[in-house]
Amino acid sequence: MIQEFADLGSQFIWLSIPFSALSGWIFTSMEKIGEATENPFEGSANDIPITAMSRNIEIDLLEIINEPHQLKPIKAINSILTYKRIIHFAKIFKNNEEWIASKLKSNPDYFKELSKGQTPEVLYIGCSDSRVTAEDLMGAMPGEVFIHRNVANMVISIDLNAMSVINYAVRHLKVKHIIICGHYECGGVKASLQQSDLGILNPWLRNIRDVYRIHKDELNAIANEQDRFDRLVELNVQEQAINVIKTAVVQEAYRDRGITVSGWVFNIRTGKLIDLNIDFPKVLEDIMQIYRLI
Ligand code: CO
Repeated sequence: MIQEFADLGSQFIWLSIPFSALSGWIFTSMEKIGEATENPFEGSANDIPITAMSRNIEIDLLEIINEPHQLKPIKAINSILTYKRIIHFAKIFKNNEEWIASKLKSNPDYFKELSKGQTPEVLYIGCSDSRVTAEDLMGAMPGEVFIHRNVANMVISIDLNAMSVINYAVRHLKVKHIIICGHYECGGVKASLQQSDLGILNPWLRNIRDVYRIHKDELNAIANEQDRFDRLVELNVQEQAINVIKTAVVQEAYRDRGITVSGWVFNIRTGKLIDLNIDFPKVLEDIMQIYRLI
């Protein structure tokens, strides 16, 4: 038997899991320890029997399977258990085979058609954060969105990578819309709010500190730290959208075919996509006096 104890203030819980049931799994943390109950709760998850002294426990289980086999998500009993999966290298290739099979099942020519070329109408610039999966949150299919992701969805004028993506998407793919998408709880934005030397990340995050400086009156007036963090995420999106507008290719595409630039925030706490409704023509007018290139 494995017994784990957690002592959180006056709350005391225990749970026991037969060791044999844990082969292939390790559990990494127990969270949200609830009120201890007199009667032990007995349940199971994915055939792992659990006994616990509280009905309100969350346990993170890490999958550590080397040999991939059929894994069903844990069906929580009384919503007690959650688990985390770490995607395993061998499993990735198996997933890929399953994905190919499912695509071919609905359309035998799926990959033949996919290989013909791309004509996406949208360029999406978002954060590299693993939780903000661009296609998923937009319901986009392969071929529909040209995507660039980096730490904190930045558009920096001397970043050859981002500038090449914008240039290629606008001039060659002729996208009609450019979206800058930030997200709440962004680690990059959060890091820029803290006093710490992050090495090579310093010059990158410095650009977010500059956003703070430009908007410091508004941000400093926000007393609640979380609200200030959220607002900086939004303002960073706005400033990166402006950075997009500062490029010659986008100014040219706006003049010739009315390309649009939008700023969005993905609310990671609810899943909702929020349009910041940046007044593109007005922003353009405001900054053109200084940034007009064509
Ligand atoms: Co982020």
